[in-house]
Amino acid sequence: MAPRPPPIHRLCVRILLVSFVAAHRLVPPCSGSFYDFPFPAAGKRHDYRDALAKSILFFEGQRSGRLPPGQRASWRGDSGVSDGAAAGVDLEGGYYDAGDNVKFGFPMAFTTTMLAWSVIEFGDSMPRDERRHAAAAVRWATDYLLKTLAHPGVIFLQDHDCWERPEDMDTERTVYNVSAGRPGSDIAGETAAALAAASMVFRDDDPGYAETLLASARKAFEYADTYKGAYSDDPDLRAGGCPFYCDFNGYQDELLWGAAWLRRASKDDTFLQYIQNNGKTLGAEDSSNEFGWDNKHAGLNVLVSKEFIEGKVLSLQSYKEFADNFICTLIPESSSPHITYTPGGMLYKPGGSNMQHVTSISFLLLTYAKYLSKSSHTVNCGDISIGPVTLQRQAKRLIIC
Ligand SMILES: *[C@@H]1O[C@H](CO)[C@@H](O)[C@H](O)[C@H]1NC(C)=O
Repeated sequence: MAPRPPPIHRLCVRILLVSFVAAHRLVPPCSGSFYDFPFPAAGKRHDYRDALAKSILFFEGQRSGRLPPGQRASWRGDSGVSDGAAAGVDLEGGYYDAGDNVKFGFPMAFTTTMLAWSVIEFGDSMPRDERRHAAAAVRWATDYLLKTLAHPGVIFLQDHDCWERPEDMDTERTVYNVSAGRPGSDIAGETAAALAAASMVFRDDDPGYAETLLASARKAFEYADTYKGAYSDDPDLRAGGCPFYCDFNGYQDELLWGAAWLRRASKDDTFLQYIQNNGKTLGAEDSSNEFGWDNKHAGLNVLVSKEFIEGKVLSLQSYKEFADNFICTLIPESSSPHITYTPGGMLYKPGGSNMQHVTSISFLLLTYAKYLSKSSHTVNCGDISIGPVTLQRQAKRLIIC
């Protein structure tokens, strides 16, 4: 099989990375203070504003469907306009995952959640045009995700592997679905997270759309929780989604993650209670120290601990402890067992697409730093405690130089 180019969710996370670098104006000294890499040229600095703009533009290159008048990636044309026809439904739109024109619902939903999260935390620091383009990138995904939920009792997914320009595709576009008998709490939970997070992006500018997103997020979550199971346990769905996007680590984290985003977006206590009552059975303590399209635990802990850090919901203290445990593994000075770093200082995890870890974990460092900086809390790593400035510095080390 031909090597696959890096899928969108791995690339996309760049936007997150770049957006908070821009947000924090973390223009670092690249003169060998940490590492001796020979770039950028002496005296020159990385242009993070330009990098942010290009990261967002990247999404336009991955668009599927009829392109809108404002499309800036003008080398692209309409494609996949009949997606969904095989099942008699409209599934036009969304993003291609990589170079083979697949629309994988599970990682696309995670990409959407992360895009939205980056706009929620750091959008105010983006130049106005980029904030607008970032919101458009979120909406291109959420318009599609709403279509996957538009038919009672099922959630659609899509898949087909072909190596050609999407504009030239004439092969069958396979459509899959999850339903009561073939549950997909992972897909439904992540879709709920994506729609709830996105509702916060649109709350001020388009409250009607934000309401639609939130209502659909509730629906997707209810579905995820009512029909529990992992989509890749079904043989048909496994054939479509695996080996690339099997749900390897189970659907439990997506249930908590979906509830956590619904809590954040709606402030509804039902979801707080869900997190409190189900945290243990759904493995909130899982210390896999991962954060990516399959495993949401580290991000979940950072997200949920916000309300504890702000002094609002003290019963969420354990989530701060879980988040601390994870963050401590990233801090070389702490005595925790550490994540591996390359000699140049880049975080390294076994397996493919290492940059997905670098980017998503840098995002968590900066987001956690942001939450902590508004409180008197620190990260407790055994006998040392670490403040937000150290977390930002560690994120810088991962990203730059
Ligand atoms: C969902 O998928 C199953 C199995 O392929 C199929 O039999 C069923 O018709 C699909 N449902 C819808 C609403 O498309």
